[in-house]
Amino acid sequence: MNSCVVGLQWGDEGKGKIVDILGETADVVVRYSGGANAGHTVLRNKNEASFALHLMPSGILRENTQCLITNGVVLDAETLLQEISGLQARGIDPMKNLLISCRAHLVMPYHKKQDRLSEEALGKNKIGTTARGIGPCYGDKVARSTALRAADLLNLDTMAEKLRKILEIKNQTFAALYGDTEPLQFDTIFEQCKIWAAELGGIITDTTAYLHKAIKEGKSILFEGAQGTMLDLDHGTFPFVTSSNASAVGLSAATGVPARAVDRWIGVAKAYSTRVGSGPFPTEQDNETGNYIREKGHEYGTTTGRPRRCGWFDAVAVKYAIEIGGITEITLQHVDTLSGIKELKICTSYVIDGKAVDFFPAEADDLARVECVYETMPGFEVNLRDVTDYDQLPIEAKNYVRRLSELLETPISMVGVGPGREQTLAVK
Ligand code: GDP
Ligand code: IMO
Ligand code: MG
Repeated sequence: MNSCVVGLQWGDEGKGKIVDILGETADVVVRYSGGANAGHTVLRNKNEASFALHLMPSGILRENTQCLITNGVVLDAETLLQEISGLQARGIDPMKNLLISCRAHLVMPYHKKQDRLSEEALGKNKIGTTARGIGPCYGDKVARSTALRAADLLNLDTMAEKLRKILEIKNQTFAALYGDTEPLQFDTIFEQCKIWAAELGGIITDTTAYLHKAIKEGKSILFEGAQGTMLDLDHGTFPFVTSSNASAVGLSAATGVPARAVDRWIGVAKAYSTRVGSGPFPTEQDNETGNYIREKGHEYGTTTGRPRRCGWFDAVAVKYAIEIGGITEITLQHVDTLSGIKELKICTSYVIDGKAVDFFPAEADDLARVECVYETMPGFEVNLRDVTDYDQLPIEAKNYVRRLSELLETPISMVGVGPGREQTLAVK
C-alpha cells in the first residue's frame, strides 16, 4: 500500500504530524518537493520538545524507516547538515537511513541572496517568500545552464568550472538589476561545496531507481508533500505561490513514480484556514476571531516565525484542492483550536460582483474580490486536547466534522485534537 500526504490549503496543515503517524507502517518515506521553505513539526511524545524539520522527511524519527529526498526537492545542503547535527544531538542518526537524489537541484548562497534582493525590489508587491532561495533555485533548474545538482557534488572539478561561470553571470545580473555592489566570491562558496560533498556525497544516489526497486519488492511507500495545493505553482493562487507543484499533481514529476502507484491520496486540512506571506485569502479574519485562532493554535511559522494569517474554513478552496489532487480521504487537524468559539463559520460558496462563482477562480485579482457565503454552526466550549476517542468528542464538534465531509464529498478519516501522535483520532 502506497500513500501520499498532501496539504489542501496554504501549507502548515499538519502534514509532518500525519507523516510521522503513518510512518509507523511505512518502509520508505519520501520527501518529494519544495525545499527548506517547509517547516514540518513533529511531536513524538508530550515529554520532549517537538522536532522542526525543513528538508528531512518526517519519517526520520522512526528508526527502521528508509527516508528519501527525491529529485523534485531543491536541496539546501547547509540547512540539511544543520538538521542532521540537530537530530544527532538528540540521539537520532539520519545518516543511517537517508538517501538524496542525484537529480535534486542545489540551493546555493546566491539563490538566497537573489530571493532577498528580488523581494526588496518588489517592495509592497512582494510575494512574502521565506527567503530560502526557493524561487531562484527552481528558476535556474528551468534555465538549465545556470543549474547545479546534487550529482555535481560527486565531481568537484567539473563543479568548480560550472560554479565559476555561474558566479560571473550572477554577479553581473545582481549588479545590473539590483545595483548590488558585493559580488559573491568563488573561493568562499566552493569551500562550502567541498564540505557538502564530504558530508553528503556518500548518500547521493538515484532515488528513482531505488523507488522502482522498492515498488517491485512490494514495500510500503509514504510520499510526503510540502506546502499546500493553494501554493501550487500552476494551480494555486498565482503569483502568490511557491515555485513547485505543491499539490498532489507534483508527485510523479518529483519522484519518477507514476501516480497510479499510489493507492491512498490523503489530504491534510486544518479545521480553519491559515496563510503566511502575501496573497488573497477569502475567509481571512483580520479581527478578534483570527487573533483567537492564532494564539490558541500557536499559528506562527515553523520556518520564519511570522504570524500566520487566520480565517474560517474555506470549503470552496478545499473542494478544488480535492478535485485537482484526486484526494481519497481527508485528515482534519486543529479541531481542538476551535473550542471556545461560539459560532463556527464555513465558507460554502463565492460571489464575485454579485454573481455566484461555480469554480475556484484562476486569477488572484478575482479571488481578492470574492465575497464569501457562510454557513454557521454551533461551536463547542470543552477542551478537546485530552480526548482519546472520537466518540468522546462533543456533538457540536462531530457535527462540524460531518458537515465538512458532506460539503467536500470526501471521507474524513482522522481528526486532530492536539500536536501529539496520540492526539490524532480515527473517525468512526
Ligand atoms: P506542516 O507544515 O503541514 O507539517 O505543519 P506545521 O508543522 O508547519 O504546522 C502545524 C502546527 O500545528 C505544528 O505546530 C503542529 O505541531 C501543530 N498541530 C498539528 N496538528 C494539530 C492539532 O490537531 N491540534 C493542535 N493544537 N496542533 C496541531
Ligand atoms: P510547509 O511545508 C506555509 C509560502 C511563503 C510565501 C510563498 C512563497 O511547512 O507547509 P517561497 O519561499 O516558497 O518562495 O514562498 O509560499 N510558503 C509556505 N507557507 N507553509 C509552507 O511550507 C510554505 N512554503 C512556502 O510564505 O507566501
Ligand atoms: Mg509548515
